[in-house]
Amino acid sequence: MKDILQELEDRREQARAGGGQKRIDSQHAKGKLTARERIELLLDEGSFEEFDMFVAHRCTEFGMQENRPYGDGVVTGWGTINGRMVYVFSQDFTVFGGSLSETHAQKICKIMDMAMQNGAPVIGINDSGGARIQEGVASLAGYAEVFQRNIEASGVIPQISVIMGPCAGGAVYSPAMTDFIFMVKDSSYMFVTGPDVVKTVTNEVVTAEELGGAITHTKKSSVADGAFENDVEALTEVRRLVDFLPLSNREKAPVRPFFDAPDRVENSLDTLIPENANTPYDMKELINKIADEGDFYEIQAEYAKNMITGFIRLEGQTVGVVANQPMILAGCLDIDSSRKAARFVRFCDCFEIPILTLVDVPGFLPGTSQEYNGVIKHGAKLLFAYGEATVPKVTVITRKAYGGAYDVMASKHLRSDFNYAWPTAEIAVMGAKGATEILYRSELGDPAKIAERTKNYEDRFANPFVAAERGFIDEVIMPHSTRRRVSRAFASLRNKKRSMPWKKHDNIPL
Ligand code: HXC
Repeated sequence: MKDILQELEDRREQARAGGGQKRIDSQHAKGKLTARERIELLLDEGSFEEFDMFVAHRCTEFGMQENRPYGDGVVTGWGTINGRMVYVFSQDFTVFGGSLSETHAQKICKIMDMAMQNGAPVIGINDSGGARIQEGVASLAGYAEVFQRNIEASGVIPQISVIMGPCAGGAVYSPAMTDFIFMVKDSSYMFVTGPDVVKTVTNEVVTAEELGGAITHTKKSSVADGAFENDVEALTEVRRLVDFLPLSNREKAPVRPFFDAPDRVENSLDTLIPENANTPYDMKELINKIADEGDFYEIQAEYAKNMITGFIRLEGQTVGVVANQPMILAGCLDIDSSRKAARFVRFCDCFEIPILTLVDVPGFLPGTSQEYNGVIKHGAKLLFAYGEATVPKVTVITRKAYGGAYDVMASKHLRSDFNYAWPTAEIAVMGAKGATEILYRSELGDPAKIAERTKNYEDRFANPFVAAERGFIDEVIMPHSTRRRVSRAFASLRNKKRSMPWKKHDNIPL
């Protein structure tokens, strides 16, 4: 009996050794942790339960039958994050470069199926040279099986990808279909074709970091949602994110203890809006002052900074925040900010996370670049996303809400539940200067007259009361009481039930 038990221990030891000490040392030398070290950091201590530790590939080409390491380049299983169940796979770069074989894919599919059945998120740690070259089409089939599960799981369980090494070819498409992608600076890459192929085909010379590094994908392409300094920071932040999310679309997000009175008054907010309507201020100050304990988890912080997206808690409950940022491009809507916010709104709606919208928007960004690149379609994404979202929606207009952007930003007309405005709000078709110049074009040569017309327009429209008269604004509120008003609004909406007409699925403009 002792020998039998020892054999199990020996086999486990072999499996844990992955591709051997030399390759583990090389992984560490690159500043990367191993697949198992990453799981240890991601999950609560001692909570990891492994599946398929002894799975080995079945490839017999290229002498592969002589080299069948246990685990086949991926560690899979489940564990907990702050006591809540998650499934995880972590690719082991020390085994065939973490490349994906048929059996490697089957291991991932097994935990994805379990996660769907049991209603728990999947966190994938990607560190892989892509399709296992020796296996050919069997490995491509394996990828496609994973893709299909990503699609079926979308909107059912949260899916989070952490990119901690190379991620090339079709391998990028599984992460691309998950809800959030996090990358590590200087050690993770995502591209469809690498720098060598790029040089051959387009003659461009570009480094892997420039082509598909964490900075590129968080600032330029928006493929990734966050870039972190190292593996430890990235995994710690994933734990923080998971704390905001429900385990599946069958559950509500967790309610955390809070130590911040919901009726906390913030007098400083009464002077947040500058006297000059064109002077910017930092919308993040408002978000922090509304949130429980000032805790804000920002998503895509480095991309389309004229729009802010992320999670806060109110009375311990998760709320998604979408806010214009007047500090950047005056907070206008454009292609990038519309896409960013639309995807975030749809994530919140999938998982029953209420949405708080903070509005200070002068309109859509004009210009040929915007029009040629389809601002009409991209702007429509946000409009569509807000209109189809049936979760509780609360909107606060702090200053400008002009034109189409007023409609788009969770207006009453898109079935928002509570629409508040600060007394500083200006809700109109456009700013006073632009409106006067159109309405009184024949008087443009007379500056005094135009100034008077502008003043008249401001007096009439640069306030929230015209909209409030019509009930488009439910209440004009004091800035200092925003946290209380918003918390109470969401509290009143906890049993909200609203559904859209039956359809197979909608046809959101893509
Ligand atoms: C089998 C692979 C492999 C792969 C790496 N290895 N990629 N084995 N299949 N795809 C092995 C190497 O042979 C090596 O084995 C070990 O992993 C480490 O690789 P190195 O090259 O030494 O490491 P490094 O210098 O860090 O370079 C990593 C890399 C490079 C950038 C990922 O290995 C690389 O370019 N690999 C090929 C990438 C690729 O073209 N993949 C196919 C993409 S197409 P030893 O034994 O020496 O340690 C694809 C299609 C999917 O994925 C389609 C889905 C729709």
